[in-house]
Amino acid sequence: MGEPEHTQKRARSAQGETDSKMEHDREHEVEERVRLFTDLEWDLAGHSTLGPHSVNYHHPRPGNKGSVFFMPNRSFLGEGALHNALQSVKALGLKKALLVTDKMLVKSGAVKTLTDVLDKASIKYSIFHWCDPIPSCAQVESGLKLVQQEGCEFIISFGCHAPHNCAKAIGIAFTNGGSIRDYAGADKSRKPMLPLVAVNTAAGTGAEMDRFCTIKDEHTGQNLDMVDWRLMPALAVNDPTLTVGMPPRLTAATGMDALTHAIEAYVSTASTPVTDASALHAIRLISTYLPEAVEDGTNAKARDMMAHAEFLAAMAFNSAGLGYVHAMSHQIGPAFSLAHGMCNAILLGPVQEYNAKYVPALFIDIAHAMGFVEVGQDSGRAVKAVLECIRTLKDKVGIPKNFQALNANPADFLRLAEAAMKDACASTNPHQPTKDEVCQIFHKAYNLDGVTQSFQ
Ligand SMILES: [Fe+2]
Repeated sequence: MGEPEHTQKRARSAQGETDSKMEHDREHEVEERVRLFTDLEWDLAGHSTLGPHSVNYHHPRPGNKGSVFFMPNRSFLGEGALHNALQSVKALGLKKALLVTDKMLVKSGAVKTLTDVLDKASIKYSIFHWCDPIPSCAQVESGLKLVQQEGCEFIISFGCHAPHNCAKAIGIAFTNGGSIRDYAGADKSRKPMLPLVAVNTAAGTGAEMDRFCTIKDEHTGQNLDMVDWRLMPALAVNDPTLTVGMPPRLTAATGMDALTHAIEAYVSTASTPVTDASALHAIRLISTYLPEAVEDGTNAKARDMMAHAEFLAAMAFNSAGLGYVHAMSHQIGPAFSLAHGMCNAILLGPVQEYNAKYVPALFIDIAHAMGFVEVGQDSGRAVKAVLECIRTLKDKVGIPKNFQALNANPADFLRLAEAAMKDACASTNPHQPTKDEVCQIFHKAYNLDGVTQSFQ
Protein backbone atom coordinates (compact mmCIF):
# COMPACT_ATOMS: atom_id res chain seq x y z
CA MET A 1 0.00 0.00 0.00
CA GLY A 2 1.30 3.38 -1.01
CA GLU A 3 1.89 6.26 1.38
CA PRO A 4 -0.63 9.12 1.52
CA GLU A 5 0.05 11.89 -1.04
CA HIS A 6 0.99 14.50 1.55
CA THR A 7 3.49 12.09 3.08
CA GLN A 8 4.95 11.42 -0.37
CA LYS A 9 5.01 15.19 -1.00
CA ARG A 10 6.77 15.76 2.28
CA ALA A 11 9.20 13.01 1.42
CA ARG A 12 9.71 14.48 -2.07
CA SER A 13 10.13 17.89 -0.57
CA ALA A 14 12.57 16.53 2.02
CA GLN A 15 14.38 14.68 -0.76
CA GLY A 16 14.41 17.91 -2.75
CA GLU A 17 15.81 19.79 0.22
CA THR A 18 18.44 17.11 0.68
CA ASP A 19 19.31 17.24 -3.03
CA SER A 20 19.47 20.98 -3.01
CA LYS A 21 21.53 20.90 0.20
CA MET A 22 23.85 18.36 -1.36
CA GLU A 23 24.05 20.46 -4.49
CA HIS A 24 24.79 23.50 -2.34
CA ASP A 25 27.39 21.57 -0.37
CA ARG A 26 28.96 20.37 -3.59
CA GLU A 27 29.07 23.91 -4.93
CA HIS A 28 30.46 25.09 -1.64
CA GLU A 29 33.03 22.34 -1.69
CA VAL A 30 34.04 23.27 -5.23
CA GLU A 31 34.21 26.95 -4.29
CA GLU A 32 36.21 26.06 -1.20
CA ARG A 33 38.56 23.92 -3.24
CA VAL A 34 39.01 26.71 -5.79
CA ARG A 35 39.62 29.14 -2.92
CA LEU A 36 42.12 26.75 -1.33
CA PHE A 37 43.95 26.24 -4.59
CA THR A 38 43.89 29.96 -5.26
CA ASP A 39 45.28 30.55 -1.79
CA LEU A 40 47.83 27.82 -2.34
CA GLU A 41 48.81 29.32 -5.67
CA TRP A 42 48.95 32.71 -4.04
CA ASP A 43 51.13 31.22 -1.29
CA LEU A 44 53.38 29.56 -3.82
CA ALA A 45 53.62 32.72 -5.86
CA GLY A 46 54.06 34.90 -2.82
CA HIS A 47 56.46 32.70 -0.95
CA SER A 48 60.08 33.46 -1.57
CA THR A 49 61.21 29.86 -1.97
CA LEU A 50 58.33 28.29 -3.81
CA GLY A 51 57.20 31.20 -5.93
CA PRO A 52 60.15 31.29 -8.26
CA HIS A 53 59.95 27.47 -8.43
CA SER A 54 56.21 26.91 -8.76
CA VAL A 55 55.96 25.49 -12.26
CA ASN A 56 59.13 26.10 -14.15
CA TYR A 57 61.50 26.20 -11.19
CA HIS A 58 63.51 29.42 -11.28
CA HIS A 59 63.47 29.72 -15.02
CA PRO A 60 61.23 28.44 -17.82
CA ARG A 61 62.44 25.18 -19.36
CA PRO A 62 61.84 23.87 -22.84
CA GLY A 63 59.87 20.60 -23.12
CA ASN A 64 59.31 17.96 -20.44
CA LYS A 65 62.89 17.01 -19.79
CA GLY A 66 62.76 16.83 -16.00
CA SER A 67 66.02 16.91 -14.08
CA VAL A 68 68.74 14.54 -12.86
CA PHE A 69 70.35 14.66 -9.44
CA PHE A 70 73.90 13.31 -9.24
CA MET A 71 75.49 11.87 -6.08
CA PRO A 72 78.42 9.56 -5.30
CA ASN A 73 77.51 6.00 -4.24
CA ARG A 74 78.25 6.67 -0.60
CA SER A 75 79.45 9.71 1.31
CA PHE A 76 81.13 9.65 4.71
CA LEU A 77 80.94 12.85 6.72
CA GLY A 78 81.95 14.08 10.15
CA GLU A 79 84.62 13.05 12.62
CA GLY A 80 85.56 9.39 12.05
CA ALA A 81 84.54 9.50 8.37
CA LEU A 82 87.99 8.42 7.16
CA HIS A 83 88.09 5.38 9.45
CA ASN A 84 84.53 4.39 8.51
CA ALA A 85 85.21 4.75 4.79
CA LEU A 86 88.28 2.52 4.95
CA GLN A 87 86.35 -0.10 6.90
CA SER A 88 83.90 -0.06 4.00
CA VAL A 89 86.76 -0.50 1.53
CA LYS A 90 87.95 -3.51 3.53
CA ALA A 91 84.46 -4.99 3.54
CA LEU A 92 84.41 -4.71 -0.25
CA GLY A 93 87.54 -6.88 -0.36
CA LEU A 94 89.68 -4.22 -2.07
CA LYS A 95 93.31 -4.82 -1.11
CA LYS A 96 95.63 -2.56 -3.09
CA ALA A 97 95.25 1.14 -3.88
CA LEU A 98 96.98 3.76 -5.96
CA LEU A 99 97.17 6.69 -3.54
CA VAL A 100 97.04 9.90 -5.58
CA THR A 101 98.12 13.05 -3.75
CA ASP A 102 100.48 16.00 -4.18
CA LYS A 103 104.03 16.76 -3.07
CA MET A 104 103.00 19.35 -0.49
CA LEU A 105 100.74 16.93 1.35
CA VAL A 106 103.52 14.33 1.44
CA LYS A 107 106.07 16.94 2.61
CA SER A 108 103.77 18.36 5.30
CA GLY A 109 103.15 14.89 6.69
CA ALA A 110 99.39 15.14 6.07
CA VAL A 111 99.42 11.96 3.95
CA LYS A 112 100.75 10.05 6.96
CA THR A 113 97.35 10.48 8.64
CA LEU A 114 95.90 8.42 5.81
CA THR A 115 98.72 5.88 5.43
CA ASP A 116 98.60 5.17 9.17
CA VAL A 117 94.92 4.24 8.84
CA LEU A 118 95.65 2.18 5.70
CA ASP A 119 98.49 0.32 7.46
CA LYS A 120 96.24 -0.39 10.41
CA ALA A 121 93.55 -1.73 8.08
CA SER A 122 96.15 -3.82 6.16
CA ILE A 123 95.29 -2.09 2.90
CA LYS A 124 98.32 -1.90 0.60
CA TYR A 125 99.08 1.20 -1.48
CA SER A 126 101.52 2.79 -3.92
CA ILE A 127 101.89 6.55 -3.59
CA PHE A 128 101.68 8.76 -6.69
CA HIS A 129 102.31 12.42 -5.83
CA TRP A 130 103.06 14.01 -9.20
CA CYS A 131 100.03 16.22 -9.34
CA ASP A 132 100.16 19.83 -10.56
CA PRO A 133 97.30 22.16 -9.52
CA ILE A 134 95.81 21.28 -12.93
CA PRO A 135 97.23 17.79 -13.59
CA SER A 136 98.73 17.22 -17.04
CA CYS A 137 97.99 14.43 -19.50
CA ALA A 138 101.56 13.17 -18.94
CA GLN A 139 100.90 12.90 -15.18
CA VAL A 140 97.72 10.95 -15.87
CA GLU A 141 99.72 8.61 -18.17
CA SER A 142 102.31 8.05 -15.41
CA GLY A 143 99.56 7.24 -12.92
CA LEU A 144 98.02 4.78 -15.39
CA LYS A 145 101.36 2.97 -15.78
CA LEU A 146 101.71 2.71 -12.01
CA VAL A 147 98.21 1.19 -11.65
CA GLN A 148 99.20 -1.49 -14.18
CA GLN A 149 102.69 -2.13 -12.78
CA GLU A 150 101.53 -2.36 -9.17
CA GLY A 151 98.28 -4.22 -9.85
CA CYS A 152 96.14 -1.65 -8.02
CA GLU A 153 92.46 -2.55 -7.70
CA PHE A 154 91.21 0.89 -6.74
CA ILE A 155 92.32 4.49 -6.28
CA ILE A 156 92.37 6.73 -3.22
CA SER A 157 92.70 10.45 -3.88
CA PHE A 158 93.84 12.59 -0.97
CA GLY A 159 93.86 16.39 -1.14
CA CYS A 160 91.88 19.46 -2.05
CA HIS A 161 91.30 19.51 -5.81
CA ALA A 162 94.18 18.39 -8.03
CA PRO A 163 94.58 14.82 -6.64
CA HIS A 164 90.85 14.15 -7.11
CA ASN A 165 91.00 15.38 -10.71
CA CYS A 166 94.13 13.36 -11.46
CA ALA A 167 92.64 10.23 -9.84
CA LYS A 168 89.37 10.57 -11.79
CA ALA A 169 91.31 10.86 -15.05
CA ILE A 170 93.48 7.83 -14.25
CA GLY A 171 90.43 5.80 -13.19
CA ILE A 172 88.33 6.54 -16.28
CA ALA A 173 91.19 6.07 -18.76
CA PHE A 174 92.23 2.78 -17.11
CA THR A 175 88.87 1.06 -17.55
CA ASN A 176 87.77 2.72 -20.81
CA GLY A 177 91.15 2.54 -22.58
CA GLY A 178 92.82 5.00 -24.96
CA SER A 179 94.07 8.42 -23.96
CA ILE A 180 92.50 10.77 -21.41
CA ARG A 181 92.18 13.23 -24.33
CA ASP A 182 89.40 10.96 -25.69
CA TYR A 183 87.16 11.79 -22.73
CA ALA A 184 87.06 15.59 -22.95
CA GLY A 185 83.45 16.74 -23.26
CA ALA A 186 80.21 15.42 -21.81
CA ASP A 187 79.61 11.77 -20.81
CA LYS A 188 82.18 10.27 -23.19
CA SER A 189 83.01 7.17 -21.09
CA ARG A 190 81.25 3.84 -21.65
CA LYS A 191 82.45 1.87 -18.60
CA PRO A 192 82.60 2.67 -14.87
CA MET A 193 85.98 3.97 -13.73
CA LEU A 194 88.17 2.13 -11.22
CA PRO A 195 86.54 2.45 -7.78
CA LEU A 196 87.64 5.80 -6.34
CA VAL A 197 87.72 6.73 -2.67
CA ALA A 198 88.08 10.53 -2.63
CA VAL A 199 89.33 11.91 0.68
CA ASN A 200 88.94 15.68 1.00
CA THR A 201 91.48 17.64 3.02
CA ALA A 202 89.88 21.09 2.56
CA ALA A 203 86.36 22.49 2.78
CA GLY A 204 85.80 24.08 -0.59
CA THR A 205 86.05 22.65 -4.06
CA GLY A 206 83.60 19.73 -3.99
CA ALA A 207 85.93 17.74 -6.27
CA GLU A 208 85.75 14.80 -3.86
CA MET A 209 82.13 14.19 -4.89
CA ASP A 210 81.42 15.90 -8.21
CA ARG A 211 81.26 14.71 -11.84
CA PHE A 212 83.76 17.22 -13.22
CA CYS A 213 87.43 16.87 -14.09
CA THR A 214 89.96 19.24 -15.68
CA ILE A 215 93.28 18.09 -17.09
CA LYS A 216 95.85 20.21 -18.95
CA ASP A 217 96.95 19.10 -22.38
CA GLU A 218 100.61 20.08 -22.28
CA HIS A 219 100.89 19.76 -26.10
CA THR A 220 98.24 22.39 -26.85
CA GLY A 221 98.35 24.35 -23.58
CA GLN A 222 94.54 23.97 -23.40
CA ASN A 223 92.51 22.52 -20.56
CA LEU A 224 90.50 19.37 -21.22
CA ASP A 225 87.17 19.71 -19.39
CA MET A 226 85.24 16.55 -18.68
CA VAL A 227 81.68 16.32 -17.36
CA ASP A 228 80.74 12.68 -16.87
CA TRP A 229 78.53 11.03 -14.27
CA ARG A 230 80.94 8.07 -14.23
CA LEU A 231 83.62 10.39 -12.81
CA MET A 232 81.84 10.51 -9.47
CA PRO A 233 83.78 8.73 -6.73
CA ALA A 234 82.40 5.52 -5.27
CA LEU A 235 83.11 6.86 -1.78
CA ALA A 236 83.43 10.54 -0.87
CA VAL A 237 85.06 11.30 2.47
CA ASN A 238 84.79 14.60 4.36
CA ASP A 239 86.42 14.13 7.74
CA PRO A 240 86.73 17.55 9.45
CA THR A 241 89.73 16.39 11.50
CA LEU A 242 91.73 16.41 8.24
CA THR A 243 91.04 20.14 7.78
CA VAL A 244 92.19 21.27 11.24
CA GLY A 245 95.73 21.98 10.01
CA MET A 246 94.61 24.19 7.12
CA PRO A 247 96.06 27.71 7.47
CA PRO A 248 93.57 30.64 7.74
CA ARG A 249 94.28 31.83 4.21
CA LEU A 250 93.39 28.44 2.68
CA THR A 251 90.38 28.02 4.97
CA ALA A 252 89.10 31.44 3.86
CA ALA A 253 89.66 30.89 0.13
CA THR A 254 88.18 27.37 0.04
CA GLY A 255 85.25 28.46 2.24
CA MET A 256 84.45 31.39 -0.06
CA ASP A 257 84.69 28.98 -3.02
CA ALA A 258 82.04 26.81 -1.33
CA LEU A 259 79.83 29.87 -0.72
CA THR A 260 80.18 30.76 -4.41
CA HIS A 261 79.15 27.20 -5.37
CA ALA A 262 76.02 27.49 -3.24
CA ILE A 263 74.96 30.95 -4.46
CA GLU A 264 75.71 30.25 -8.13
CA ALA A 265 73.84 26.92 -7.95
CA TYR A 266 70.86 28.61 -6.28
CA VAL A 267 70.45 31.29 -8.97
CA SER A 268 71.41 28.88 -11.79
CA THR A 269 68.99 28.30 -14.66
CA ALA A 270 69.34 24.54 -14.01
CA SER A 271 68.48 24.67 -10.29
CA THR A 272 65.72 22.49 -8.87
CA PRO A 273 64.02 22.39 -5.46
CA VAL A 274 66.45 19.55 -4.54
CA THR A 275 69.58 21.56 -5.35
CA ASP A 276 68.05 24.67 -3.75
CA ALA A 277 67.59 22.89 -0.43
CA SER A 278 71.29 21.97 -0.45
CA ALA A 279 72.40 25.43 -1.59
CA LEU A 280 70.40 27.36 0.99
CA HIS A 281 71.58 25.27 3.92
CA ALA A 282 75.17 25.55 2.70
CA ILE A 283 74.78 29.35 2.61
CA ARG A 284 73.32 29.28 6.13
CA LEU A 285 76.24 27.20 7.50
CA ILE A 286 79.03 29.04 5.67
CA SER A 287 77.88 32.54 6.62
CA THR A 288 77.71 31.37 10.24
CA TYR A 289 80.78 29.15 10.61
CA LEU A 290 83.39 30.29 8.08
CA PRO A 291 84.62 33.26 10.17
CA GLU A 292 84.94 30.95 13.20
CA ALA A 293 86.88 28.31 11.22
CA VAL A 294 89.25 30.99 9.90
CA GLU A 295 89.76 32.59 13.31
CA ASP A 296 90.39 29.32 15.13
CA GLY A 297 91.24 26.34 12.95
CA THR A 298 90.98 24.02 15.95
CA ASN A 299 87.31 24.92 16.50
CA ALA A 300 85.87 21.43 15.98
CA LYS A 301 82.29 22.55 15.50
CA ALA A 302 83.20 25.20 12.92
CA ARG A 303 85.37 22.68 11.01
CA ASP A 304 82.59 20.05 11.12
CA MET A 305 79.94 22.49 9.92
CA MET A 306 82.22 23.72 7.12
CA ALA A 307 82.90 20.12 6.00
CA HIS A 308 79.15 19.56 5.76
CA ALA A 309 78.56 22.96 4.12
CA GLU A 310 81.17 22.29 1.45
CA PHE A 311 79.49 18.96 0.68
CA LEU A 312 76.01 20.54 0.54
CA ALA A 313 77.24 23.27 -1.81
CA ALA A 314 78.79 20.58 -4.02
CA MET A 315 75.51 18.62 -3.97
CA ALA A 316 73.89 21.77 -5.34
CA PHE A 317 76.33 22.67 -8.13
CA ASN A 318 77.02 19.07 -9.15
CA SER A 319 73.51 18.99 -10.62
CA ALA A 320 72.55 22.68 -10.99
CA GLY A 321 75.82 23.96 -12.46
CA LEU A 322 77.50 27.29 -11.72
CA GLY A 323 77.63 30.75 -13.30
CA TYR A 324 79.71 33.76 -14.28
CA VAL A 325 81.77 33.93 -11.06
CA HIS A 326 83.38 30.63 -12.04
CA ALA A 327 83.39 31.44 -15.77
CA MET A 328 85.43 34.60 -15.02
CA SER A 329 87.52 33.14 -12.22
CA HIS A 330 88.64 30.29 -14.52
CA GLN A 331 90.25 32.97 -16.72
CA ILE A 332 91.69 35.52 -14.29
CA GLY A 333 93.05 32.89 -11.86
CA PRO A 334 95.48 31.16 -14.25
CA ALA A 335 96.30 34.48 -16.03
CA PHE A 336 97.78 36.01 -12.86
CA SER A 337 98.48 32.82 -10.82
CA LEU A 338 95.74 33.62 -8.30
CA ALA A 339 93.99 31.06 -6.10
CA HIS A 340 90.58 29.91 -7.36
CA GLY A 341 88.72 30.60 -4.10
CA MET A 342 90.26 34.05 -3.76
CA CYS A 343 89.19 35.05 -7.30
CA ASN A 344 85.68 33.75 -6.62
CA ALA A 345 85.46 35.70 -3.37
CA ILE A 346 86.34 38.95 -5.17
CA LEU A 347 84.05 38.30 -8.16
CA LEU A 348 81.08 37.00 -6.14
CA GLY A 349 79.69 40.45 -5.17
CA PRO A 350 80.04 42.16 -8.58
CA VAL A 351 78.56 39.16 -10.47
CA GLN A 352 75.61 38.80 -8.09
CA GLU A 353 74.99 42.56 -8.27
CA TYR A 354 74.64 42.05 -12.03
CA ASN A 355 72.41 38.94 -11.63
CA ALA A 356 70.17 40.68 -9.09
CA LYS A 357 68.97 43.07 -11.79
CA TYR A 358 67.36 40.09 -13.57
CA VAL A 359 66.34 37.71 -10.75
CA PRO A 360 65.89 39.90 -7.65
CA ALA A 361 63.31 37.56 -6.07
CA LEU A 362 65.89 34.79 -5.79
CA PHE A 363 67.87 36.92 -3.36
CA ILE A 364 65.10 36.82 -0.75
CA ASP A 365 65.83 33.26 0.35
CA ILE A 366 69.59 33.83 0.13
CA ALA A 367 69.17 36.82 2.46
CA HIS A 368 67.04 34.72 4.82
CA ALA A 369 69.65 31.94 4.78
CA MET A 370 72.30 34.52 5.69
CA GLY A 371 70.18 35.50 8.68
CA PHE A 372 68.50 38.66 7.33
CA VAL A 373 64.91 37.57 8.03
CA GLU A 374 63.90 41.21 8.58
CA VAL A 375 63.99 41.83 4.82
CA GLY A 376 60.74 39.84 4.62
CA GLN A 377 59.62 39.50 1.00
CA ASP A 378 61.23 42.76 -0.14
CA SER A 379 63.63 41.75 -2.92
CA GLY A 380 65.32 45.17 -3.00
CA ARG A 381 66.25 44.93 0.67
CA ALA A 382 67.25 41.29 0.19
CA VAL A 383 69.68 42.10 -2.64
CA LYS A 384 71.29 44.85 -0.54
CA ALA A 385 71.61 42.52 2.47
CA VAL A 386 73.17 39.70 0.42
CA LEU A 387 75.71 41.97 -1.28
CA GLU A 388 76.63 43.55 2.06
CA CYS A 389 77.00 40.11 3.67
CA ILE A 390 79.29 38.88 0.86
CA ARG A 391 81.45 42.02 1.25
CA THR A 392 81.74 41.84 5.04
CA LEU A 393 82.33 38.08 5.02
CA LYS A 394 85.10 38.48 2.44
CA ASP A 395 86.74 41.21 4.56
CA LYS A 396 86.25 39.33 7.82
CA VAL A 397 87.99 36.17 6.59
CA GLY A 398 90.92 38.12 5.16
CA ILE A 399 90.43 37.95 1.39
CA PRO A 400 92.30 40.78 -0.44
CA LYS A 401 89.90 43.57 -1.24
CA ASN A 402 90.17 43.57 -5.06
CA PHE A 403 92.17 42.45 -8.11
CA GLN A 404 94.26 45.61 -7.96
CA ALA A 405 95.65 44.43 -4.62
CA LEU A 406 96.60 41.17 -6.36
CA ASN A 407 98.42 42.91 -9.22
CA ALA A 408 96.06 41.82 -11.99
CA ASN A 409 96.42 43.83 -15.20
CA PRO A 410 93.21 45.52 -16.51
CA ALA A 411 94.70 45.58 -20.01
CA ASP A 412 93.90 41.84 -20.17
CA PHE A 413 90.25 42.14 -19.13
CA LEU A 414 88.80 42.27 -22.66
CA ARG A 415 90.64 39.08 -23.65
CA LEU A 416 89.62 37.39 -20.37
CA ALA A 417 85.99 38.48 -20.89
CA GLU A 418 85.95 36.80 -24.32
CA ALA A 419 87.31 33.60 -22.81
CA ALA A 420 84.82 33.72 -19.91
CA MET A 421 81.91 33.84 -22.36
CA LYS A 422 83.09 30.50 -23.80
CA ASP A 423 83.52 28.85 -20.38
CA ALA A 424 81.15 25.93 -19.68
CA CYS A 425 80.00 27.52 -16.38
CA ALA A 426 78.63 30.61 -18.17
CA SER A 427 75.64 28.82 -19.68
CA THR A 428 73.70 28.41 -16.42
CA ASN A 429 74.12 32.00 -15.22
CA PRO A 430 70.62 33.50 -14.73
CA HIS A 431 71.27 36.12 -17.40
CA GLN A 432 73.80 36.21 -20.23
CA PRO A 433 75.93 39.38 -20.15
CA THR A 434 77.48 41.05 -23.20
CA LYS A 435 81.28 41.16 -23.60
CA ASP A 436 81.26 44.80 -22.45
CA GLU A 437 79.28 43.85 -19.35
CA VAL A 438 81.71 41.02 -18.48
CA CYS A 439 84.53 43.51 -18.91
CA GLN A 440 82.75 46.00 -16.63
CA ILE A 441 82.37 43.30 -13.96
CA PHE A 442 86.13 42.60 -14.14
CA HIS A 443 86.80 46.34 -13.70
CA LYS A 444 84.37 46.53 -10.79
CA ALA A 445 86.18 43.62 -9.11
CA TYR A 446 89.50 45.37 -9.81
CA ASN A 447 88.40 48.54 -8.00
CA LEU A 448 86.25 46.95 -5.30
CA ASP A 449 86.17 48.67 -1.90
CA GLY A 450 87.14 46.69 1.14
CA VAL A 451 89.70 46.21 3.85
CA THR A 452 93.35 45.80 2.84
CA GLN A 453 94.28 42.37 4.16
CA SER A 454 97.44 41.30 5.86
CA PHE A 455 97.78 37.98 4.04
CA GLN A 456 97.45 37.54 0.29
FE1 LIG B 1 84.87 26.51 -7.31
